[in-house]
Amino acid sequence: MTKVKVAILISGRGSNMAALIAAAKDRAYPAQIVLVIANLADAGGLALAAAQGIETAVIEHAPFGKDRLAHERMIDAKLRQAGIEIVALAGYMRVLTPFLVEAWAGRMINIHPSLLPALPGLHTHQRALEAGLEKHGCTVHLVTAGVDEGPILGQAKVDILPGDTEASLSARVLEEEHKLYARCLADLAKTITKTS
Ligand code: GRF
Repeated sequence: MTKVKVAILISGRGSNMAALIAAAKDRAYPAQIVLVIANLADAGGLALAAAQGIETAVIEHAPFGKDRLAHERMIDAKLRQAGIEIVALAGYMRVLTPFLVEAWAGRMINIHPSLLPALPGLHTHQRALEAGLEKHGCTVHLVTAGVDEGPILGQAKVDILPGDTEASLSARVLEEEHKLYARCLADLAKTITKTS
């Protein structure tokens, strides 16, 4: 089976990245993780990926100052050079310009810790608690120009329990994120294999 080549973009600890790497080890999984790119040299996920024998690259945004486009052109060049077919954002804490979004339209996905369209943006667990919601969860969506707005590929729900704190709720959602992301990436990879 030819596996679809995936790059993961991270900024931090990379637990979703690690979940995708683990899922892709299954022979029957339709995608392989071949590259991890971080915009911060101290992103914890880099060491995890390297320990799994996956190529890593650090393309820091800071040296580019306000020139987001130049930073993204460098990322795009690296993705193309590696023959990437799908880009998975996993805790990548940069808002993208239309350049990268359009370059990867239909092939770039993101995981967000809420049931979109509810609670786009940051601090979703705290906001879910403050709003007194009964349900919370996570969403995998295609990346489009609007932040956290693209077509939804999948969602997983969790109940908000009495006594939940930001920490307990985020831990429960994170467990679901790991399963959901692996499932949605596989689904997208299968559609790409069929159409190519
Ligand atoms: C996750 O909650 C993800 O949904 C959000 O950022 C967090 C990243 O966590 N976009 P990790 O780096 O994957 O552990």
